[in-house]
Amino acid sequence: MPSLPSQLSARIESATGVDPQLRPSTKPQFGHFQSNVALRLAKQEGRPPRDVAADIVAKLDVADLCETPDVAGPGFINFRLRSDVLAQVASDLVTDPHVGITQADSPQRVVIDYSAPNVAKQMHVGHLRSTIIGDCFNRVLSAQGHTVIPQNHIGDWGTQFGMLVQYVVEHRIDVMEMDLTEVEQLYKDSKKEFDADPEFADRARLRVVKLQGGDERTLQIWHALIDVSLAGFNETYARLGVLLTDDDLAGESTYNDDLPRVVDELEADGLAVEDGGALCVFVEGQDAPMIVRKRDGGYGYDATDLAAIRRRVGKLKADRIVYVTDVRQAHHFEVLFQVARKAEFLPESVVAEHVGYGMVLGPDGHPFKTREGGTVSLSSLLDEAEQHAAPNIALAAIKYADLSNGLQKDYVFDAERMVQTTGDTGPYLQYAHARVCQILRKAAAEADPHVDPEADLGAMTWGRVTVLDEPAEQQLALLLSRFGEIVDVVAADLTPHKLCTYLYELAGAYSSFYEKCPVLRSEGQVRSSRLALCEAVRRVLGTGLGLLGIDAPDRM
Ligand code: ARG
Repeated sequence: MPSLPSQLSARIESATGVDPQLRPSTKPQFGHFQSNVALRLAKQEGRPPRDVAADIVAKLDVADLCETPDVAGPGFINFRLRSDVLAQVASDLVTDPHVGITQADSPQRVVIDYSAPNVAKQMHVGHLRSTIIGDCFNRVLSAQGHTVIPQNHIGDWGTQFGMLVQYVVEHRIDVMEMDLTEVEQLYKDSKKEFDADPEFADRARLRVVKLQGGDERTLQIWHALIDVSLAGFNETYARLGVLLTDDDLAGESTYNDDLPRVVDELEADGLAVEDGGALCVFVEGQDAPMIVRKRDGGYGYDATDLAAIRRRVGKLKADRIVYVTDVRQAHHFEVLFQVARKAEFLPESVVAEHVGYGMVLGPDGHPFKTREGGTVSLSSLLDEAEQHAAPNIALAAIKYADLSNGLQKDYVFDAERMVQTTGDTGPYLQYAHARVCQILRKAAAEADPHVDPEADLGAMTWGRVTVLDEPAEQQLALLLSRFGEIVDVVAADLTPHKLCTYLYELAGAYSSFYEKCPVLRSEGQVRSSRLALCEAVRRVLGTGLGLLGIDAPDRM
């Protein structure tokens, strides 16, 4: 449901025909919102603005939401939401199992392609971002009742496996005895040999043919490389606390059998044409074509993604497909979607979006590198953050830092700043949550000295918000009432930083409320109303952090 301010705004717009551009009031005595709509209309109509304002107030039908609006100064209109209406919305949050999150009328099937590390390589910082961002999208869309189908498009196919397997065979290596770090070293060693020894390179190419031809021994080693890599990935997923499981795996090799068919279809339809020996699809507005079959007859990243789209629409019945990768792949997806639309693999009714993210920078402002100049593994980042804080706090710090800026922006990985419990950080929000839990715990213990201090606060009964006399209480309730709408925006635009900003503001509003309005020291109805308000804050903060994939501890 639209929030109270949105409902009010829509009402004013339908009465005046223009967007009222509601702004939060600067002082509590001016109410909650102000609009300059009368000033703008007066200019057009050539009438005194205060008269126009008075006319608008007279014909406006908002009595169910606000007190009678005031005309102020040169012709501003001030609105004050009714405190019983605000109290009602805040009370609903205490009992609503969805905590104000809109449930989709017609749930969609949403494929989210994220994480997607590459076999025989450690996950690096880029995959960290993809995993955390995709996990957040998964949680937000699931919370609205959509069916999310994660697809972990791991890099488990390609000519590099010829090189790897050949190296393993020639050096009689037992891959199953290795861990991911060792397999990554194997990759480097085999690459070195490939580049230095043309004869090895030739044997590696023959090995690719064997791999494609399904040679048993070759496949066995290839499988072992995948198994060892997956064990490493899963360790990281467990450490990150993300929802991905092996069921979500759909690596590049999944589409091997589809590739010749997909490409033949494109050729038969006249979409793919031969160009210099390669099979290409030209699309309007793009200088370079998409190469769907290379000169050597092999298929690459592009063709695989085309086959994947076709399957996601055809078999997975996706209504929406979201790809989360590095922003540098933006062009790849732009061309991919164009070609897929042209080929009718991607009907107009299916939305396809690429969400690109920026780089993680080191403290020097340059892309994050190890001291030796290599790419930084994800585990080493986690290790670094954990040097400054407990694991669940370090993790909150990393996830929040990752999600709280516009995704496209690069950000500096500054572990020391990220783990602070003050300022715009994950741990600050965790701390705010723990603080509100503490009040509720104390209240429960006062009411019943035998209450289990570890009891689930959410299972207790907290009454209703009935009194909202103080501006700080009203501001808090007003902000709480916006939660569902913020989640709507994040689900539609895939902009998690808006949820971060909202939660940060909510924690701030809660602090002001806590300073100005005694809770445990107040009495009677005021006390029970404020406790209910605290419970609403606990639920919204906890749920909101949950949507970001951040743990909300009861104590810190
Ligand atoms: N494995 C790729 C990488 O590490 C990301 C794959 C993204 N997904 C896709 N369908 N192309 O860059």
